[in-house]
Amino acid sequence: MNHAVTIAGTGSYVPERIMTNDDLSKIVDTNDEWIVTRTGIKERRIAAEGEHTSHLGAKAAERALEQAGLAAEDVDLIIVATITPDTLTPATACYVQEYLGAKKAVAFDISAACSGFLYVMKIAKNLIQTGAFKNAVIIGAEKLSNFINWEDRTTCVLFGDGAGAAVLRRAEEGEGSILATDIGTDGGQTHLLNIPGGGSACPITIDNASERLATLAMLGKEVFKHAVRRMKDSANEVIERAGLAAEDIALVIPHQANLRIIDAIADRLTVPNDRVFVNLHKYGNTSAAAIAIALDEANREGRLKRGDKFVMVAFGAGLTWAAATIEW
Ligand code: ACO
Repeated sequence: MNHAVTIAGTGSYVPERIMTNDDLSKIVDTNDEWIVTRTGIKERRIAAEGEHTSHLGAKAAERALEQAGLAAEDVDLIIVATITPDTLTPATACYVQEYLGAKKAVAFDISAACSGFLYVMKIAKNLIQTGAFKNAVIIGAEKLSNFINWEDRTTCVLFGDGAGAAVLRRAEEGEGSILATDIGTDGGQTHLLNIPGGGSACPITIDNASERLATLAMLGKEVFKHAVRRMKDSANEVIERAGLAAEDIALVIPHQANLRIIDAIADRLTVPNDRVFVNLHKYGNTSAAAIAIALDEANREGRLKRGDKFVMVAFGAGLTWAAATIEW
């Protein structure tokens, strides 16, 4: 069996609390002008204390299920992409399953940083395509605010919290489908972007607690260079595999990390700026959630029309990268 797989619904959820660049300038030595010029970010959302990654993810999933017209009890598979799980074990997807009441679903997590949502899309698509599952809820959800060193101005201005989701199922006659996917990893670059502490390599102890090792560390300039090259190559790969050219692409939805990276990719793909979706000014970089939130907003804002071909492309810690060409 080899079924085409469609996106039947999308959803997203961001926490209520807005933190502006001016708010940040009261915590660290930074300013709105620096952040906007270097990144394009104006504000980000910060989850409340009792609001966990699973809560954000489940709320996004509820909206996607509603749009898809799929009841929670009929969900076969839930995969959450996250680097900020509620707990190291069990998987955040297990909490989401319980919250949704999706009792018969199989649920697990994937860790691929900002590329996570597209990793999960490929995995779920293949599992549906082979006939193993009829449908899947795929989720990118992050509460990065708990894994940021709020004294480090070089990282804390970049990130935010949020979640996005999509329902995948077998495509029916005349429906659009996922045309091509690409995922890749370079484990030789783990040092460029990581959360060094809190795992088995470096547990948090009383002695090292003050070093804030369970927070994001990044060599920004190096990451920037890899991001542009990998995303350009991965996007070109899925455009070509779908038998298309750049001019056939109605919209590019890139990972929302930095406007300068997005502009550089659009330039190299020769896609005009009005065909590139940007929402990072509102949310900053929400890692695995970023592409998923952007997809939902593009959908609900009417930026995607039936039959449109569009590309999503992402890049993150690992290093990882991923892209997909979709017919809407
Ligand atoms: N406010 C004010 N000044 C700052 C700030 C700040 N928040 N942060 C750094 N600076 C200063 C630096 O100290 C430096 O000062 P100096 O010249 O006196 O030493 C100066 O600004 C320039 O700093 P750079 O690091 O050179 O700035 P750059 O132009 O490289 O921008 C940035 C930094 C925004 C992080 C950029 O490198 C970037 O976006 N990199 C990619 C990050 C990314 O895409 N990550 C995606 C993956 S995330 C994931 O997977 C979870």
